[in-house]
Amino acid sequence: MMANLQRFGVLLVILFLGDFVESIKWLSLQHSHLQWNLSLASHPGRGIRSGTSSPCTIARRRYGFVKQQAKLCRHSVEVMPHVQAAAVLAADTCRTVFRQRRWNCSSIGMAPVLPPDLTRATREQAYVYAISSAALTYTMARACSSGGLHQCTCAAKPAAAPAGGQFQWGGCGDNVQWAVQFARRFIDNVEKHALEKRSNGAAANLHNNRVGRKVMVESLRTQCKCHGVSGSCNIKTCWRALPAMAEIGARLLEKYTNAVEVSEGSIAEEVAEERAPKKAKRAVGTQLLVYLSKSPDYCTKDEALGSFGTVGRHCNVSSSGPESCRQLCCGRGYRTVVEEKIERCQCKFYDCCYVKCKICRTKSQIYECL
Ligand SMILES: *[C@@H]1O[C@H](CO)[C@@H](O)[C@H](O)[C@H]1NC(C)=O
Ligand SMILES: *[C@@H]1O[C@H](CO)[C@@H](O)[C@H](O)[C@H]1NC(C)=O
Ligand SMILES: *[C@@H]1O[C@H](CO)[C@@H](O)[C@H](O)[C@H]1NC(C)=O
Repeated sequence: MMANLQRFGVLLVILFLGDFVESIKWLSLQHSHLQWNLSLASHPGRGIRSGTSSPCTIARRRYGFVKQQAKLCRHSVEVMPHVQAAAVLAADTCRTVFRQRRWNCSSIGMAPVLPPDLTRATREQAYVYAISSAALTYTMARACSSGGLHQCTCAAKPAAAPAGGQFQWGGCGDNVQWAVQFARRFIDNVEKHALEKRSNGAAANLHNNRVGRKVMVESLRTQCKCHGVSGSCNIKTCWRALPAMAEIGARLLEKYTNAVEVSEGSIAEEVAEERAPKKAKRAVGTQLLVYLSKSPDYCTKDEALGSFGTVGRHCNVSSSGPESCRQLCCGRGYRTVVEEKIERCQCKFYDCCYVKCKICRTKSQIYECL
């Protein structure tokens, strides 16, 4: 009886794990040193399709690429260094934005193993999907406009004439249009496949991917350059460019704060309708991030929920935001640690070539959650 029960348990766990959608596992590329060009150049004759040494095969085996992603990789391996850069950008942006909060996006660094906070279709997962999709779009759009890819070039000039005829379209705009198409193929296709298999949370992921790209498109702004004799602005050319990624991260943080809880069924319906527009009005639209399950408060350690707890985290005694000791330590209090730094300081030049410094000790206080 007992043995049977145990076997049943193991079976359940396997089924459950198999049910998760995996399209953000590629974020594990943030830790990789894969040489994408290696198999092309150093094994002529073997080609990139030939199995073991292909970087795409390694990516599939070790860096969480799913089948469709490995296929796309083989088809256009020259794009992959930019995908890798996007993984770094997504992770850095997320960690910076959440640095001082209870949930600080540390789980993104564990990919391709995803802890439960990134598989239960939580609000935090919504942010990670949106920022990943946005970062991939960002990196690709920039790669196009900087001439790094042969598949794409500068963005097409906007259809609308410049306002008031004060400038002309020129320069080289970030090619968001091409980048969005690429991100759809690399990320959304996986999720669509999962949706067909009715995987847990696939519809919410798909929706949040779209929100990330929408924010990107909406953040395009006009940048200009003047031409003319000695600084006069006789001729002005302008193009559409993306802002810094930190700004995108902050915009998505607002959407994280205002995210709405939906049911699996309703968001699946809506995602399906987006593919066939003109149908009934959508409840959520692509302005909001969505989640399916409520998050814990991340105060205490609970591995089943992907909560690491805030014991030992550094807090700020004088602020009142999420990083304050009151909020970060969840009312448990904090202890003060005096940190002494020993540094070289007051350095001076002697004669021509000697530098002499003093040794300075500086004390500062840091506060740690109990
Ligand atoms: C592959 O690319 C790296 C830089 O991305 C370069 O340093 C290296 O020489 C290239 N290797 C080959 C075999 O082309
Ligand atoms: C993020 O949170 C985890 C878990 O509480 C902690 O171990 C880690 O040091 C934190 N990272 C930063 C940069 O504060
Ligand atoms: C703590 O918060 C205050 C007020 O927001 C800020 O001025 C200060 O720089 C913060 N201190 C640290 C160590 O971040």
